Amino acid sequence: MSDKFDVIIIGGGPGGYVCAIRAAQLGLKTACVESRGTLGGTCLNVGCIPSKSLLNLSENYHKAKKNFFDQGIEVSNIKLNIEKMMKNKNKSVQILTKGVEFLFKKNKVTYLKGKGVLFSTTNVIVYDNGKKNSYETKNIVIATGSSPLSLPGIDINEKNIISSTAALSLNSVPKSLVIIGGGYIGLEMGSVWKRLGSEVTVIENLPFITPGMDREISNEFQKILIKQGFKFLLNSKVLSISDSGSQVTIEYQDNEKGDKRKIQADKALIAVGRKPYTEGLNLNKIGIVKDEKGRIKVNKKFQTKEKNIYAIGDVIDGPMLAHKAEEEGIAVAELLAGQSGHVNYDVIPGVIYTAPEVAYVGKTEEQLKKEGVKFKVGKFPFLANSRAKVNNETEGFVKILADSSSDRVLGVHIIGPHCGDMIAEMALAMEFGASAEDIARTCHAHPTHTEAIKEAALAVDKRPIHF
Ligand code: NAI
Repeated sequence: MSDKFDVIIIGGGPGGYVCAIRAAQLGLKTACVESRGTLGGTCLNVGCIPSKSLLNLSENYHKAKKNFFDQGIEVSNIKLNIEKMMKNKNKSVQILTKGVEFLFKKNKVTYLKGKGVLFSTTNVIVYDNGKKNSYETKNIVIATGSSPLSLPGIDINEKNIISSTAALSLNSVPKSLVIIGGGYIGLEMGSVWKRLGSEVTVIENLPFITPGMDREISNEFQKILIKQGFKFLLNSKVLSISDSGSQVTIEYQDNEKGDKRKIQADKALIAVGRKPYTEGLNLNKIGIVKDEKGRIKVNKKFQTKEKNIYAIGDVIDGPMLAHKAEEEGIAVAELLAGQSGHVNYDVIPGVIYTAPEVAYVGKTEEQLKKEGVKFKVGKFPFLANSRAKVNNETEGFVKILADSSSDRVLGVHIIGPHCGDMIAEMALAMEFGASAEDIARTCHAHPTHTEAIKEAALAVDKRPIHF
């Protein structure tokens, strides 16, 4: 069978499927190849979506157990039904992946099920259950995402030594869980299992958690997690993990003192990052160049060495975030249609969906200092925000960094309730080149958490009202 497309996108995750829909909207004859059996990639199937479902459900359970009584809501016999909770999560995933399939039909994107391989710069072969189909195309977009990274000599067996994939589907609550890596996955999955009853210990190689995040926020985050019962072994490098079948033994080294120690647990979750996934695409033969981290090299227009082959999302440089991949997908589709697609990498928000949430956009204080940029800081605690107060969610603060001379907002960092949603306001403000004064003079509804943003903007000019 042979068919000619304007563009074939390999990978149906947030980068790939969004690119496909946008390309089809723009009138390009578009196909998207996906081997998983369902669309949505890691994000919808075994990442963002199932983890957010479990974060929400486990938080409800935890609140019902720990907070309701003191708030005058007396319920008895609160029990965890993990099977039902997992079914609920699976249902959400199924609805959303089917939703993408519906969007493909609606937009006339051809969905090619199977493993896509680049046969030449204009030919993609799709292997599906022993069948092989060849498709001609003018352009190819590689959007094959990433896979969990392990540590040297450590084999993720998805039984007791697990990646985030198995951590999203455990059928019982481990008594003890050791998490290797204090980043996004470790702290989100750690939160889920801590709330459901596990003893959680995080081993982190660096002397602080969440590298790359504004340090003041990261320190506050760690303090809050410790209050929630997390244990942290910082500045500690994991050397080996052995699995006896019923328990794991993790050997780690204190980076400062050099002494080696061991810790045992029911399960070890490896959350030390992800690596670009490009296996079996035949890239070498086509001459597509990768960097030392295995990322496909692209120019500003997302083109590889072959100008009609593009790459987006986790397989290229930049934060491994679904929304970053989506933006790149849209940019490539628009470039293919002759428009001027573009991504503003200075304004890519990041969110950790713990409780409280952590959210940021733009530069950190450390980055600005390193770049020699003079800046002003405005901070406002949720303790002084009326809505947070009535909701008994007063942990955290908003921090706004603005240029000393122009007052332009350079970065916003928040730890606190609902900040994962609130950060959108700051991303928009930064896209419009807002000053802290612009935000301070924007009327924010009362009583809402967003008033903390307005107050932090006022604090940049040392004139907050409620603090
Ligand atoms: P990460 O890069 O966020 O964190 C990995 C952590 O492991 C780092 O703190 C690192 O210092 C530590 N580490 C590395 N080697 C170690 C060792 N030998 N011993 C102890 N610690 C070690 O990676 P993570 O959490 O695995 O997430 C992968 C990707 O998925 C990230 O790029 C993240 O952006 C994305 N993600 C995003 C989410 C969100 O947007 N909410 C949720 C989950 C993942």
